Amino acid sequence: IRAGSYADELVKTAVCKTIASPGRGILAMDESNATCGKRLASIGLENTEANRQAYRTLLVTAPGLGNYISGAILFEETLYQSTIDGRKMVDVLVEQNIVPGIKVDKGLVPLAGSNDESWCQGLDGLASRSAAYYQQGARFAKWRTVVSIPNGPSALAVKEAAWGLARYAAISQDNGLVPIVEPEILLDGDHGIERTFEVAKKVWAEVFFYLAENNVMFEGILLKPSMVTPGAECKDKATPQQVAEYTLSLLRQRIPPAVPGIMFLSGGQSEVEATLNLNAMNQAPNPWHVSFSYARALQNTCLKTWGGRPENVKAAQDVLLVRAKANSLAQLGKYTG
Ligand code: 13P
Repeated sequence: IRAGSYADELVKTAVCKTIASPGRGILAMDESNATCGKRLASIGLENTEANRQAYRTLLVTAPGLGNYISGAILFEETLYQSTIDGRKMVDVLVEQNIVPGIKVDKGLVPLAGSNDESWCQGLDGLASRSAAYYQQGARFAKWRTVVSIPNGPSALAVKEAAWGLARYAAISQDNGLVPIVEPEILLDGDHGIERTFEVAKKVWAEVFFYLAENNVMFEGILLKPSMVTPGAECKDKATPQQVAEYTLSLLRQRIPPAVPGIMFLSGGQSEVEATLNLNAMNQAPNPWHVSFSYARALQNTCLKTWGGRPENVKAAQDVLLVRAKANSLAQLGKYTG
């Protein structure tokens, strides 16, 4: 059964308003099996289904997680998986007042005719997959495509990224899922913050052009942008105030206030940096809910603390809750370190 005619109401009010609620943000725990394998290898664990299940169980069962986290993005395996004590992961999230979401893209592949850039696959069969994910309990979706500054970005790569996001967003809404629109502008490079700002303006202009052309309902989407920062290898570092100033300026110039929530990715920033930058952006009221959808900046210390040992589960969950609470305060502009 498709979500059908009630899809509009559902995405606009029920899901968007819950996810974009004060003091809460998204836990991105949708690492593909390949990426999850890299994370597990960093703590000396094999990339088995049992290890992925144990780690994801630790995350979703952290007591009180729903006080700070409003949505959790899952990889397909987790959407259909149970915790190690046999409860459906999705049910545990719902009990915690956390909306389950699903990564629906099929990953990046080389973009022929570009400057060594990539495009994001996954539109084929997306409508039927989305309907099945909805049946399984997912209420929002994520599609991550990337833009590289050192490689251009070429006009072709930007157009492809924007078009793919817009088609995905239309298909998601049609099937009752709130689409998270994520054109990640990679941190790699030695460019300064001004260059990132210029590229981000171009990318978001194009994304909204195609979202409108595809009749996507702006009230029923969430955005997952990169913060505007200097490239990772740039010698000039930016303060949280500078990051906030550039990023908010980008949002004001490109993002209509109808969009309910802006959930930033952490993109390789340290845990504390990601919190400080978010906090700086929430020092004055914004037209949108400005919050987080972090993977690494919520999980790095948690994963290390766990180390694959059952006796460390509680300590690892405590660390996750510390990061989640810090970002919750930053969403309210009240983080003091
Ligand atoms: P990071 O916060 O680690 O960048 O991951 C967020 C994410 O989901 C990337 O798509």
